[in-house]
Amino acid sequence: MLKIGVLISGGGTNLQAIIDNIDHGYINGKIELIISNREDAYGLVRGQKAGIETLYVNPKDFKNNQEYDLKLIKELKDREIDLIVLAGYLKILSADFIMEFKNRIINIHPSLIPSFCGDGYYGEKVHKGVLDYGCKITGATVHIVDEGTDTGPIILQRSVEVAENETVQSLQQKVLEIEHKILVEAIKLFSDNRISVEGRRVKIV
Ligand code: GRF
Repeated sequence: MLKIGVLISGGGTNLQAIIDNIDHGYINGKIELIISNREDAYGLVRGQKAGIETLYVNPKDFKNNQEYDLKLIKELKDREIDLIVLAGYLKILSADFIMEFKNRIINIHPSLIPSFCGDGYYGEKVHKGVLDYGCKITGATVHIVDEGTDTGPIILQRSVEVAENETVQSLQQKVLEIEHKILVEAIKLFSDNRISVEGRRVKIV
């Protein structure tokens, strides 16, 4: 059974999708720990309601990002976590963290990477970028996390159409629905041991 650690900063609807799909038996795994860098992240409440261990780690208690991540590494290693899921985690990970869990960290991003990703593209800014550019399609991407921002090998992508009367909020909602689906699918691929990373290409075996 796959031991999963989830890192969050916000509402946690992606986290909820993972919890639900483990409960229904779709994913053969267990969330051992949820960590948030924000005390008011509603995802912490979702975790507690599901009986999962949660941890708020306050960045102000550490002298820098590297020290902060050392704490996270320790907590995750103590629980022998196999896969780390960034589900709306808005803090940049240090090189140490990424090296420690190489090819075992995945992130969900609300656009079709390599469009509308990288520094500055988070939350509503992604969808505003899509609308301002006049794109007809957008989507979501699950990828392996490497040292860059949103640059790691792509595991799954799915598209949605941008309607004529689309707003940032309606697009965000539409994309969120497919985020939940492909994130859960990607975790299932990990739990079924079907992911192989060869350079930039992720093969589903
Ligand atoms: C999602 O759009 C995710 O792609 C982005 O942050 C949002 C988090 O939503 N990185 P939630 O906290 O899972 O509801």
